[in-house]
Amino acid sequence: MNAFELAFNALMCRSVTDKIKLVNQLHTFKDQLNLNYQAKYPIISVKTPGRPEKPNLVRFQSIPKRDKSDLGFIKTIHAICHIEFNAINLALDAVYRFQDMPNGFYQDWIKVAFEESQHFQLLNNYLIELGYQYGDFDAHNGLWKMTHETDYDVLARMALVPRVLEARGLDATPKIQKRFENSNFKPMVGLLDIIFNDEIGHVKIGNTWYHTLCQQRSLDSIQTFDQLIQKHIGESLRGPFNIEARKLAGFSEKELNYLQAL
Ligand SMILES: [Fe+2]
Repeated sequence: MNAFELAFNALMCRSVTDKIKLVNQLHTFKDQLNLNYQAKYPIISVKTPGRPEKPNLVRFQSIPKRDKSDLGFIKTIHAICHIEFNAINLALDAVYRFQDMPNGFYQDWIKVAFEESQHFQLLNNYLIELGYQYGDFDAHNGLWKMTHETDYDVLARMALVPRVLEARGLDATPKIQKRFENSNFKPMVGLLDIIFNDEIGHVKIGNTWYHTLCQQRSLDSIQTFDQLIQKHIGESLRGPFNIEARKLAGFSEKELNYLQAL
């Protein structure tokens, strides 16, 4: 089985249920050592990955600020569910696009895709329990934008998607959990615990490969990161950072000092 072809098919799949099935399959084939990581597959730029017709994608700014009503909380759950859906595609794109990496790279990102699909299902099932489902509210497209913009180099991708976007989730989750703690949606606290723990692992995978690539290219990891942030984001990262979680996720002492100095 060509790992890249299977990852591409899952990435482009527009049905939520079929995408989850394809990700499960890919994950099983990986565990059974049935994947070929040597055979190449045509690499195309993916402006729009496979996603269902709904949710409508809107500019980030045009999503109204969420209030403290029950509906506000449900919209927050939907927004996190959307992040997890995107995260499946982010991981699949990492598998598909960079076809000259060691096998361990693909195995790592297939595992991430699988865990993201589990997160998505946890949240979507909870939404269904509440009488809603994924697609019921508008959502934004920021995560894929950065993925698409970093499709020219695996080092830029590792620097900016897991280490910036996904790591932001580590910073934000404890605060979001606190809000859910005092709401009618307490089960979210437990769901976010599961997601948070897995997410530390995902950022760690990003850090491991980012550091490996910097070493291979004799690049300073902080300087390179700083240049990529300027190039793609144009301004310094904003804290506060969850230093404890980021430490667990493999940011070095130096990198944490760099973040805290911002
Ligand atoms: Fe996730």
